[in-house]
Amino acid sequence: MMRKKMYLCAFDMNCVGHQSQGLWRHPRDHSAEFNTMKYWQDLARTLERGLFDGIFLADVTGVYDVFGGSPDAALRAATQVPTNDPFTIVPVMASVTDNLCFGVTGSIPYEPPYSFARKISSLDHLTSGRIGWNIVTGYLDSAAKGIGQDKKDAHDTRYDIAHEYMQVVYALWEQSWEDGAVLRDRANGIFTDPNRVHRIDHDGKYFKLDAIHLCEPSPQRTPVLFQAGTSPKGQAFAGKHAECVFIGGHNAEQHARSVARLRTQAKAHGRDPSDLKIFGAITVIVAPTDRQAEEKLADYKSYGLNEGALALLSGWTGMDLSELEMDATIEQVESDAVQSALSAHGSATVRDWAEDLAVGGAGPIITGSPETIANKLEQWLAVSGLDGFNLAYTVMPESVEEFVDLAIPVLQERGVFKGSYQAGTFREKLGFKEPRLQAPHPGAGYRR
Ligand SMILES: Cc1cc2nc3c(=O)[nH]c(=O)nc-3n(C[C@H](O)[C@H](O)[C@H](O)COP(=O)(O)O)c2cc1C
Repeated sequence: MMRKKMYLCAFDMNCVGHQSQGLWRHPRDHSAEFNTMKYWQDLARTLERGLFDGIFLADVTGVYDVFGGSPDAALRAATQVPTNDPFTIVPVMASVTDNLCFGVTGSIPYEPPYSFARKISSLDHLTSGRIGWNIVTGYLDSAAKGIGQDKKDAHDTRYDIAHEYMQVVYALWEQSWEDGAVLRDRANGIFTDPNRVHRIDHDGKYFKLDAIHLCEPSPQRTPVLFQAGTSPKGQAFAGKHAECVFIGGHNAEQHARSVARLRTQAKAHGRDPSDLKIFGAITVIVAPTDRQAEEKLADYKSYGLNEGALALLSGWTGMDLSELEMDATIEQVESDAVQSALSAHGSATVRDWAEDLAVGGAGPIITGSPETIANKLEQWLAVSGLDGFNLAYTVMPESVEEFVDLAIPVLQERGVFKGSYQAGTFREKLGFKEPRLQAPHPGAGYRR
């Protein structure tokens, strides 16, 4: 019997320690070398050796300065600062791989659609169609201040802006240049037929544009669209636009509820619910035996920096957690930042949160031997209905290397992970028949 295969992406960011606050202090951690090409090239080669579908690159515009009202704690602990632009490392990794794909976070408030669409088309060309975009709306006031605003727009307004942004980028990617516009006709001296390149004239509530797209059509035109918001507005957005959704949640049952809601949203937009590929965040610690994996977790935990973790959580929730005692319980709050941030745990003390977050972030951690890990991942998929996982790292690169060397072969033996790459673009590797968006996805409707 053919078994459903899981998709796997590495969950990373162009910074130190990403979701593991303080683990850059671990003697075997190299994530502080993120400023070098070699670091990313080595990682890309390891991921491709393990047949990873992609690397999902988070990005946060702005600094975590809610905790204590200043960026000091984040700066001390390297809580996602310093951080470099995630798009810059895509060609670096693409140049040493053939199949690894890239889901890169691009934040709508901080780049106009005109220049953003050009950046994505450029990368889609350079990677031969291996680029995806994680559409985010931003959640830090510090970022808004960086572009001259007093604070970020309200949560639901950010999604309204995002819907209109999508109209503009779809038009640039799908409508501006017809297929066949580029002739490269040496005899007649015509590179591009101007009759087949069209101005996009958009005059909306948030965006105004009268321009042609600057790039010729790339393999996918629109990149594979990721989204990672789990509020009702976020899920409705995903149901309409996303092809892949990245969700938080602390156990398989929580994931199952989000998966059901997301598939319902896709259906409500006339789409096949299975066209939404849903990834859950998870941290895996694998070792030759269950006991060794547990010991490894304890060792990693000893390097966590509570203050750095709380700086992260304060930014996600918009609550200054420096004002609470470590034994105080954090209840679910209505937040204007990431509404789903606290739902992962329900209620827990500030200390519990800090200690948990310091290894792998807000998602669950599973430990064990390769067989135990395979059992747990299979079970998780069966209960949750997820299509795959984004694996947060602990200590880099051993976190990825051990998963590739120990866990992947067992998953392959069981037939729940592929034995070779599917040819084609990112979209095709995800099981879609065509490299470009197809109806009823709203983006396909823009194509001439
Ligand atoms: C698993 C997960 C990953 C996310 N990754 C990012 C990210 O890399 N950058 C970012 O700006 N926002 C990120 N977000 C925030 C969301 O994209 C979204 O802007 C935020 O969650 C607010 O929407 P919501 O209330 O609908 O969840 C992430 C959220 C989740 C749940």
